[in-house]
Parts: sequence; C-alpha cells; structure tokens
Amino acid sequence: MNNHIPVLMNEVIEGLSLHSGATVIDATIGLGGHAEMILARTSPSGKLIGFERDDRNLDLAKDHLSSYTDRVTLINDSFGNMAEHDLGKIDAILFDLGFSSVHVDDASRGFSFQQEGPLDMRYDQKQELTAEAIINSWTKDELADLFFQYADETRSRQIAEEIVKARKANRITTTTQLAETVENVVKRSGKTHPATKVFQALRMAVNDELGEIKKGVDSGINLLKPGGRMAIITFHSTEDAFVKYQLKDDPRIELVNKKVIKPTYEEMRSNSRSRSAKLRVVAKI
Ligand SMILES: C[S@@+](CC[C@H](N)C(=O)[O-])C[C@H]1O[C@@H](n2cnc3c(N)ncnc32)[C@H](O)[C@@H]1O
Repeated sequence: MNNHIPVLMNEVIEGLSLHSGATVIDATIGLGGHAEMILARTSPSGKLIGFERDDRNLDLAKDHLSSYTDRVTLINDSFGNMAEHDLGKIDAILFDLGFSSVHVDDASRGFSFQQEGPLDMRYDQKQELTAEAIINSWTKDELADLFFQYADETRSRQIAEEIVKARKANRITTTTQLAETVENVVKRSGKTHPATKVFQALRMAVNDELGEIKKGVDSGINLLKPGGRMAIITFHSTEDAFVKYQLKDDPRIELVNKKVIKPTYEEMRSNSRSRSAKLRVVAKI
C-alpha cells in the first residue's frame, strides 16, 4: 500500500525559497512526495539528492521519480552520515522526520500496535538492534527512563515493571503482546491508544532518532550556501523540543519563521497524520 500524503507541502516549498537550477537535499525522501514538488520547482536543471535509511522506501521513491532520473541522486544511508558524502554546496535542505505511512501500514515492520507483527521497528533492516532486543534485555530502570525521556510517559515506572514481569514468563516478541502488557497498566480512555507513547519511545531508541537528527542538522547547516534554507518538520513534542533547542543560538543560521508553522485546518481535516506536524525554517547566514 502506498498512501503517504506529504504534509505542509506549500509551506515547505515556500520556506525553502526554491529557484530554477537549485541543488536540494531531501534528507528523508520517503516515497518522494515532497521531492517531486521540489524537482518541479527547480526545473529544468535543478538537482535533488535524496537520503533514505529504508531501502524499500528508497525503491518506492525511485519508481515515483522515474521521469527525473537525470536530476536525482538517491543515497541509501542515514542523513546523520551526510558529511561522509561528497555533496558540494547546497541551496536548500528538507527534513520530514519520523516514519512514513508505509511503515505503519505494513504489520511486518513492527511499528503498529494495532496489528500483530514482530517487534522490529528498524528503518534500516541491515541494523542489528530491534525493538524486541530492547524490550527483552534492557533493565527496568533503563526502560522506565526511555519511556519517560523520549515520550513523557507518566506511568513509565509501572509499565517497565509490568514488562519485566511479563518477559520473565514469556519473551515478548510481538507488537500486540507489548501493547497488551502496556494496557495492563494504562487503561484506554479517549482516542489515543495506551501504548502510543511506549511505541514512540521504542522507535526512537531503535533508530537513535535524536542522535541522527543532531548529526544531520549540524552537517546540513555546514553544507548550505549563504542564504540557503533548511526546513524541518517534526511530529511530536520530544522531537520538536529537540530540534528547537538545536537551532537556538546556532551562530551559523537565523530563523526565517519566529513561530512554528502548522498545517491549515483544511489540511488537518483531510490528512490526520498532519495534525501534529510543525515546521521550522532557518537560513544560513
Ligand atoms: C515522514 S517520511 C518522509 C516522507 C516524504 N517527505 C514524502 O513526501 O514521501 C520520513 C522518512 O524518513 C526516513 N528516515 C527516518 N530516519 C531517517 C534517517 N536518519 N536518515 C534517512 N532517512 C530516514 C523514513 O524511513 C521515512 O521513509
């Protein structure tokens, strides 16, 4: 299934201040939705360099952008390693952080608490560390700290205790097993699933998401030409606070928008995934 709708498209295009012939990095090319628009706005000679950690998504992006092959370079690597590639100077960079709808729709990837799947959560299938390894080997305190620090889970200690108790009886290997273990502690109320925060924290730890953002944003700023733009879309408060803090007081950049940009009411209504999206744009000095 391929139903990922790019968020904040007009705001991103405007924020990146694209011109014909620009060289742009899409640090999280996903299925290539934003990339396609970037290519259209930089035609006829603009170049797009796309990073993607997940080789399956990179293949989908390649298919999606097949009419632009002479203008596109696709790199199967984390944006955190941007500095290791010889990319030259760049006009604009986009980070559209986190996972794509494809990850959640495919139960076998282990990102969804609503469908039974292996506790995996790796973007890069070549990586060794999985969510299953973390859940079954980290100590109670390490798990509690993870849930609290990466997702503000207020019941983190009780959830960690319940996990340690459950795994003594049986190794926790599936998404539904974990979701049920969390539900023994956090009861359902409202629309949000009780395991939402635990799954978010785990995904962030498996993929070292904050570590990669730190390296990628820093390298991206170095690569920008003076006046070049960087746009970053975040999807939850931990990610957004981290990005805000990293950009604050960086002498190499200035903020383009003082307040974060959020989707319009119409976009939130038509694409539920956009509801938590926040866009920050900076310019290289
Ligand atoms: C929100 S989606 C991007 C969607 C894309 N803008 C589009 O229009 O299709 C984020 C993508 O970034 C990828 N990703 C996550 N962390 C990454 C990293 N550190 N380096 C490269 N890609 C990453 C994920 O695999 C996912 O496909």
